[in-house]
Amino acid sequence: MSKKNDDFFEKKKVWSEIKDQLLGCYLVPYFSKISMTKKPVYYIDAFAGKGKFDDGSPGSPIIALDIISKFPNSKICSAFIELNYANDLMENIKRYPNTKIVEGRYEDYIENLLVSRAEQNIFVYIDPYGIKSLKFSIFEKWKNHKFNSIEILLNFNSFGFIREACNALNVRFNLSDLDDVLINAEQFDGSERKSINELSEVAGGDYWKDIIEDYKAGIFDGYEAE
Ligand SMILES: C[S@@+](CC[C@H](N)C(=O)[O-])C[C@H]1O[C@@H](n2cnc3c(N)ncnc32)[C@H](O)[C@@H]1O
Repeated sequence: MSKKNDDFFEKKKVWSEIKDQLLGCYLVPYFSKISMTKKPVYYIDAFAGKGKFDDGSPGSPIIALDIISKFPNSKICSAFIELNYANDLMENIKRYPNTKIVEGRYEDYIENLLVSRAEQNIFVYIDPYGIKSLKFSIFEKWKNHKFNSIEILLNFNSFGFIREACNALNVRFNLSDLDDVLINAEQFDGSERKSINELSEVAGGDYWKDIIEDYKAGIFDGYEAE
């Protein structure tokens, strides 16, 4: 884990609160609507964290499980994947029923969780520190499953992608092109400078190179490129 994320769970920061509000606001109507299908729902938090911040604020697992508990008549199971804090997570969500905790990397376990879920409604919440785990090929496989439905809520650090893309192509990235909120909200996935191949794996193609070249040529500013 990158040292820069060591204090992530000490205290909930403003951008985590915004992410939580988005998750909560999304899940309430989602479960209301999806329960009409009368099919089982499988909720997966793929980068679950500790479940709770050290200051006592709920993390994404508890936010989701509290909402799920308001739908006692729906058949909802949940799974939480976490690489570094599985034990804390286990402790923090042990009072909730029908939960499974997987200790390891999302990239290694997500497919196993999704097999034999045909005809079910799947919801995947993806909230990584950076972009490196977000290989597009993982998402592409999901269309081959015969789910009743699948929804993905993805926190994609598009600003981080543009910055890495500029690095990889030796293009100067002008920080003043983006505002302080975006810069401060950035999280780090701990990896060194990313290669062109890694970035294409994330983007699902190399179309991003043209965008960066146009940014370099002044055709786009940072926001448009993003
Ligand atoms: C941004 S935090 C998630 C915060 C959580 N969504 C919340 O609101 O409480 C990212 C989490 O993913 C974990 N992690 C890092 N790499 C991972 C990977 N490849 N697979 C699964 N979890 C990973 C980290 O240990 C960290 O707890």
